[in-house]
Amino acid sequence: MMTTAVSSPSSSPLIEVRGLKKYFGSNERPVRAVDDVSFAIQPGETLGLVGESGSGKSTIGRTVLRLVERTEGQVLYRGDDIGGLSGERMRKLRSKLQIIFQDPYASLNPKMRISAILGEALSTHGLHKGAAARDKRIAELLETVGLRPEHASRFPHEFSGGQRQRIGVARALAVEPEFIVADEPLSALDVSIQSQVINLLADLRERLGLTMLFISHDLDVVEYLCDRVVVLYLGKVMEVATTEELFANPSHPYTQALLAASPKPDPEMATERIALKGDIPSPISPPSGCVFRTRCPHAIEACAQTVPTLDELSPGHYSACIRKELLSNTAVARP
Ligand SMILES: Nc1ncnc2c1ncn2[C@@H]1O[C@H](COP(=O)(O)OP(=O)(O)OP(=O)(O)O)[C@@H](O)[C@H]1O
Ligand SMILES: [Mg+2]
Repeated sequence: MMTTAVSSPSSSPLIEVRGLKKYFGSNERPVRAVDDVSFAIQPGETLGLVGESGSGKSTIGRTVLRLVERTEGQVLYRGDDIGGLSGERMRKLRSKLQIIFQDPYASLNPKMRISAILGEALSTHGLHKGAAARDKRIAELLETVGLRPEHASRFPHEFSGGQRQRIGVARALAVEPEFIVADEPLSALDVSIQSQVINLLADLRERLGLTMLFISHDLDVVEYLCDRVVVLYLGKVMEVATTEELFANPSHPYTQALLAASPKPDPEMATERIALKGDIPSPISPPSGCVFRTRCPHAIEACAQTVPTLDELSPGHYSACIRKELLSNTAVARP
């Protein structure tokens, strides 16, 4: 964990998600990608969102930014529901909320020079008008992400993967956002350059005071970068805690399984995916009761009947499991 400062729960959040649902497909048999998720992110905080493939991480990130319309629930930005904003007001807000995508190859237009890619972001939001002001800002942005001003005249294919991801970061920063969703910004990169991008994000956060939702499979990176963590399974929140607490004291059986399966800090292993027994069930027909019960080593009959609520175990530490006797705060060592 980079910073020890965890915003006090009493300060008002920059982003708050309440009862968020996103169902895809038909009304009869919807894909329940996100199913009643709530959390808040304090100004300056980096919140990690972890969970296996298909658990709904990207859908949450996109729904929060209104790149995808929600099915139900609210997303509040400084207390205002962004779902109700008209086109014009949403357009103004867009610049405050940015996303960094997983794939630095696919997310940059190969036919555009870097100056045009960054210039487009600036002009969309009416920032730094006039060629001279624009070029100055582009040079500044490239320097901010550790590239050189002369890189502006190049095309995306002339850069390495890590450099391309830096350009993706520069594009997100172009509009001076307050909040960034980083959706697996490292997973397309070589392990050798992942740490450069991690350090860049950590540095920008410190310097610019950015608030971040950091989506990742990689628990080591989450432990390093995030202040708090939300653990997601099949569209539902299983556990929420500060990073320190979650890694020292994972309470939910799913979190325990994730940590047990997490690769050691060995660079050879760093991109290996989480290995839990069996597959995640289909979000079209999730298990009754607790959605994790079909893979849970501690499941009992009652788990099929009761949907567990997210209960506070200790200040700021929440877990959704009915087997409270398992949730004693005894430390579980990471193997
Ligand atoms: N546009 C869509 N139409 C239908 N189903 C979708 C759509 N987008 C996502 N889904 C489904 O929603 C569920 C959650 O997907 P999502 O991409 O949010 O998961 P994720 O946690 O980001 O996974 P990964 O780690 O693989 O990126 C999956 O079952 C996925 O198949
Ligand atoms: Mg995803």
